[in-house]
Amino acid sequence: MDCIVIEGGAPLNGEINISGAKNSAIKLMAVSLLTDEPVLLTNMPRLRDTRFMGQLLAHMGVEVEEGPGAKMRLHGAKLTNLTAPYDLVRKMRATFNVLGPTLARAGKAKVSLPGGCAIGARPVDLHLKALEALGAEIKLTEGYVHAQAKSGLTGAAITFPFISVGATEHTMLAAVLAKGETTLSNAAREPEIIDLAQCLNAMGARITGAGRSEIHIQGVSKLSGVTHSVVPDRIEAGTYALAAATTGGRVRLQNIRSDHLGSLWPLIAQAGAKVELDQTSVIISRDPEIPITPVDVDTQAYPGFPTDLQAQFMSFMTRADGVSIIRENIFENRFMHCPELSRMGANITVRGREAIIRGVPHLTGAPVMATDLRASASLIAAGLVAKGQTRIGRVYHLDRGFEHIEIKLGQCGANIRRESET
Ligand code: EPZ
Repeated sequence: MDCIVIEGGAPLNGEINISGAKNSAIKLMAVSLLTDEPVLLTNMPRLRDTRFMGQLLAHMGVEVEEGPGAKMRLHGAKLTNLTAPYDLVRKMRATFNVLGPTLARAGKAKVSLPGGCAIGARPVDLHLKALEALGAEIKLTEGYVHAQAKSGLTGAAITFPFISVGATEHTMLAAVLAKGETTLSNAAREPEIIDLAQCLNAMGARITGAGRSEIHIQGVSKLSGVTHSVVPDRIEAGTYALAAATTGGRVRLQNIRSDHLGSLWPLIAQAGAKVELDQTSVIISRDPEIPITPVDVDTQAYPGFPTDLQAQFMSFMTRADGVSIIRENIFENRFMHCPELSRMGANITVRGREAIIRGVPHLTGAPVMATDLRASASLIAAGLVAKGQTRIGRVYHLDRGFEHIEIKLGQCGANIRRESET
């Protein structure tokens, strides 16, 4: 198994090109279930999670070809298997989202329930209620969801009791082929939702309001193929921006949508780093000698501060000159990085949904364990600024969502390498 080894202490200086968004790409891949024509995705990140999704789609009869450059071609001329088995769904929860589009196109589907997750229970009740509202008959047996819509899905007015990115996307992926109009109220507003809507509209869907709390979908009977470029990964961009703010130095991030991180930039600036923005790039710079000002953070659904940057922001705050409080409002168990950061000398107390971080003058390198994708990124940032060597195990978490992380950071002067653990 691989591990990442970092010799800490070097500030980051250089340029990083940001890849396409993992959390958009895997939902965009699922649009291939809705059409018998080819779907070409460009600006596709090459990640374990996109590979898992590709394996599942191939199992269902979609031809999946990774092209040269950041391209992927998917062609679901005919769906030959309407079952998503446990072995493929358990590897990556978002594969559950094949249920709605398969049901919409083929009238039935059998998809494994995803099960628990390191960051929280993450049930799929909202997904299932929304599909039932669209007329699906749903039965749960032996760990599987069996769904049927003998005479097709029908549009409905659906109000989500709270905001869910996955349930909003999943319902969109089903409602585009339903008869009549669907209205989604209290919908998620993330840029990935807009990206999905734009791709579906380019295929002939009729979706308005994506990016706002109320989305209207006028069902159509057929969707065509499409060529679509995946939106830049705001979480990857935020991760490198925070790494640069943590180590000090000067890093330019390219191929970003700076407006998608509107909640992050003011907090980085408040903490004492300089943020120079234009539409598609940002420069983050900080003199490593100047103390970091503590800043409190509250995670929220978009446009609030993303839960997927909470761990990385915490690494930044471990070195602040004072106390900061980070509140996690989206997932109930997303502080697994705290004990690992504490092993590196951070002073963190977790009380329920809040972490209290008392800044320390320096962190020290240590062997640590990645617990989930974004937690792993926070350990990398901590390792970059720590004195001595940090070895991060269970790197497969990182490979799910960060393309070439050690190469991108290495280009900015980080002393980081991948090793095979014996
Ligand atoms: C997406 O997860 C992202 N994953 C997550 O990123 C991200 O943290 C999350 O949105 C919030 O932004 C993908 O896009 C693949 P939710 P999702 O449904 O859709 C509860 C990463 O590291 N809930 O918005 O699963 C749920 O338990 C990952 O890239 C229900 O109770 O998130 C959570 O507490 C991690 N019932 C809250 O809602 C449901 O049916 C928000 O979850 C659905 C969700």
